[in-house]
Amino acid sequence: MGPERIQSVDSYDWTEILEASLSEGHRMVNRLLTDFRAGANRFDLPGEVLFAHLDGHVVVAVGGLNVEEAKGLGKAARVRRLYVVPRWRGKGLARSLLDEIILHASRTFDVLTVNVGKLDARGFYEHLGFTPIDYAGITHIKRLAHNPSSHAIGAKRASA
Ligand SMILES: CC(C)(COP(=O)(O)OP(=O)(O)OC[C@H]1O[C@@H](n2cnc3c(N)ncnc32)[C@H](O)[C@@H]1OP(=O)(O)O)[C@@H](O)C(=O)NCCC(=O)NCCS
Repeated sequence: MGPERIQSVDSYDWTEILEASLSEGHRMVNRLLTDFRAGANRFDLPGEVLFAHLDGHVVVAVGGLNVEEAKGLGKAARVRRLYVVPRWRGKGLARSLLDEIILHASRTFDVLTVNVGKLDARGFYEHLGFTPIDYAGITHIKRLAHNPSSHAIGAKRASA
């Protein structure tokens, strides 16, 4: 199954992924749902996107792209809210989410960033071609090969 673009979180069942993430001490799925429902972040600025892997209507992995707020990087976007339910890990779901995010991002942005923070995901990003940096709350960066079929612009927002 490939990643699906999510335009409305309430069309899907987030129960397992929310409970699993909270029980591991990760807040990203909770923040994703809270911010989406409040209208604070719907991954709907120009160039932004939210993808998920679904098992029927059940969300088993998620990852999104927000415009990067940090200045000095050119047209940059940030990978955010990447999380895979533990029993679905090691099957390439995060890689395929990231591949889809990179493809989408390359239509609009020149640079992809991430803030891994205290998460044990540095190896994951470095394995997938991100370079460590320490800049404005960004831990890793990847320069994108620009896609000529691009059209779109940038805008505002930030954090992991
Ligand atoms: C990190 C995470 C997203 C990886 O998800 P996953 O679906 O198991 O990853 P994949 O199966 O797609 O792995 C893709 C590749 O990365 C490698 N990889 C995965 N996690 C890794 C890690 N922590 N360190 C180094 N490599 C890693 C895999 O071995 C695989 O390599 P291969 O394709 O060459 O065999 C998942 O473990 C997770 O949700 N962790 C908790 C939340 C988190 O840390 N999110 C990141 C937010 S910044």
